[in-house]
Amino acid sequence: MRNSKIAGVGHYVPERVVTNKDLEKLMDTSDEWIRERTGIVERHYFQEGIDTTANMGANAAREALKMAGLEAKDIDMIVFATLSPDYIFPGSGVLMQRELGLKEIPALDVRNQCSGFIYALSVGDQFIKTGMYNNVLVVGSEIHSSGLDFSTQGRAVSVIFGDGAGAVVLTPAESSDKGVLSTHLHADGEFAEELAVTAPNSNKKDRLTHEMIDDRSIYPYMNGNVVFKHAVTHFPEVIKEALDKNGYKPSDIDMLIPHQANLRITSYIQQTMGLSPENVFSNIHKYGNTTAASVPIALSEAYAEGRIKEGDLVCLAAFGSGFTWASALIRW
Ligand code: ACO
Repeated sequence: MRNSKIAGVGHYVPERVVTNKDLEKLMDTSDEWIRERTGIVERHYFQEGIDTTANMGANAAREALKMAGLEAKDIDMIVFATLSPDYIFPGSGVLMQRELGLKEIPALDVRNQCSGFIYALSVGDQFIKTGMYNNVLVVGSEIHSSGLDFSTQGRAVSVIFGDGAGAVVLTPAESSDKGVLSTHLHADGEFAEELAVTAPNSNKKDRLTHEMIDDRSIYPYMNGNVVFKHAVTHFPEVIKEALDKNGYKPSDIDMLIPHQANLRITSYIQQTMGLSPENVFSNIHKYGNTTAASVPIALSEAYAEGRIKEGDLVCLAAFGSGFTWASALIRW
């Protein structure tokens, strides 16, 4: 079976920048609290009438296509990861398909939150491995800012998230020691409600009620301590799983691209795995946590900054709501 490789990568963030100081005007918080606990300095928020989850994905996809030297019409399949789709249904994949003018190819939405992009990459990789498709567009795109609780009650969560999109084009690799070497996916639904938005809720007679708005269950809930504990366990576990599978050790990693959850989580992974800071990419200070978009945005920036070169061993890893966690090991 053939490997897939990342032939192109790109990202898009909305123009509007929202600093911690801007958030101080909306709720009882401080630049110091946010920086200290999360490492975030600013994030980007979408602008109504300009940005949508689907069209931000399309903007990132155009960049990825350009780098791959392909045109939209060359794409055989779209895999679109998001937890903030444009509509309840249909998925954002078909909306992006329309935007890119890609009639009749399959478009699949993946709903695995912070691990969504790596799950989506794994799906695309399987289609290339089996020979069913040659060029797969894998996208992560999120608009969080329209669904955050900007009251003091929601501040621990709302300061963390930002909007943006990233994309890669997967094509067949030249040899079995190049490209995506393996992907590793996990989930544990035992913790489903520890990081979740539970309303609207299709199990209620009325999906959306005034009560849901009043009790704020339409906004994300996060049990920060539980998330932290599981994240710092599963991140190293799933990175080691990928290394072991391919006969590598942590010091072989040239660039680790972790989901940008929180700088404290990233620093913890870097230290417990004995990696040097130069081998671990972080851009959370600029974008906050963009969930399914965070890994491809980080990958795109790392590549653009020359921090990933031909032949490098690159590891992608994520943990998030579900709980879900995942990794991918790539020989660039
Ligand atoms: N600004 C100012 N004060 C705040 C804010 C805020 N934005 N949010 C909470 N506080 C206050 C709380 O009200 C509390 O005040 P009190 O002591 O008077 O009661 C105090 O700060 C400490 O609150 P905690 O919830 O205990 O804060 P903690 O130190 O646990 O930090 C945090 C919260 C940053 C969320 C932490 O739990 C954490 O790092 N968790 C990991 C989760 C995470 O990073 N998730 C990322 C998204 S999920 C993912 O991508 C995997």
